[in-house]
Amino acid sequence: MLILALESSCDETAAALVENGRKVISDAVFSQIKIHKNFGGVVPEVAARHHLESISFVIEEVFKKTDIKKTQIDAFAATAGPGLTGCLLVGLNAAKTLSLVYNKPFLPVNHLSAHVCANFIDSQLKPPFICLLVSGGHSQIIFVEDYNKQTILASTIDDAVGEVYDKVARLCSIPYPGGVLLDKLAQKGNKHAFCFPEAKVGDNEFSFSGLKTAVLREIKKFESDKIPKEDIAASFQYRICDTLIKKTLFHAKKLNCKTIVLAGGVAANSELRKRLKELEEQGFKVSAPKLAYCTDNASMVASCAYYNPIQSEDSLLFEVFSRH
Ligand code: KG4
Ligand code: ZN
Repeated sequence: MLILALESSCDETAAALVENGRKVISDAVFSQIKIHKNFGGVVPEVAARHHLESISFVIEEVFKKTDIKKTQIDAFAATAGPGLTGCLLVGLNAAKTLSLVYNKPFLPVNHLSAHVCANFIDSQLKPPFICLLVSGGHSQIIFVEDYNKQTILASTIDDAVGEVYDKVARLCSIPYPGGVLLDKLAQKGNKHAFCFPEAKVGDNEFSFSGLKTAVLREIKKFESDKIPKEDIAASFQYRICDTLIKKTLFHAKKLNCKTIVLAGGVAANSELRKRLKELEEQGFKVSAPKLAYCTDNASMVASCAYYNPIQSEDSLLFEVFSRH
């Protein structure tokens, strides 16, 4: 089954052609990061306008890289939510239009479920597994019992992990989106230089706002040009990864689930990937998407459209939604 999928939930306009949910035939991503950098974050109206300008371009890019014609596509898919409403509308309406023109089904997709499915691309992974999903907007531990049966075991009660990364990066004068640069800085620092606290919350919760405040308090002790950014980044990264891995491990052991996977933009984090890999020594099978499929992309949307599309009576009437 050949699916053409579109992604436009935040600041990446993307299209991908994927076979049977696992084999990427071709894909294209237009990142708006450079545009939003000037504002220190994503401006929804600006993002929506750029999606509108780029969506046809990314679709044509995908077809330029292959001999496959639009008439050969079996279904058209798009992210329906959660995300920025104006942005989601662009991808959703483009995919609905293609589905009407070529008389093939339209499959709406949940963005978070798509991040989970990034793990199926170029891999043999099968449920059941525990997924640690960490992105700019969400932090969850999910039990993926089957392709279309997912239970949320834990989620954040305040900031998402990527959001905290971006905020702490900002405190260190690192431009948006700071996560990836903070990760690079952390690799040069001493993770034991500062002892940042771990939030005392329930087994089903994450909380990161206290950690963010603790970092801010430490930073304020230094003159702006003397902030030990590398040590701050390393100590922050150590604490956040420790918390994430510990809680994921707790739930995996509780459910006696031997496979753990990572997903979401923060799944690109070097320390998190390393710490996850170390769990293999304890007998766990671990998996993480290739770096290109961690941050927003359309291949994961196509995979999700194949394995776990949103069920609706008439998908052409299905609307975008901003919140989970
Ligand atoms: O999944 P994603 O592309 O967008 C959402 O769905 O939210 O995730 C983007 C987030 C940003 O907050 C970005 O700073 C973070 O992922 N991120 C990272 C790394 N690469 C991206 N955070 C920590 N370490 C990284 N290497
Ligand atoms: Zn995302």
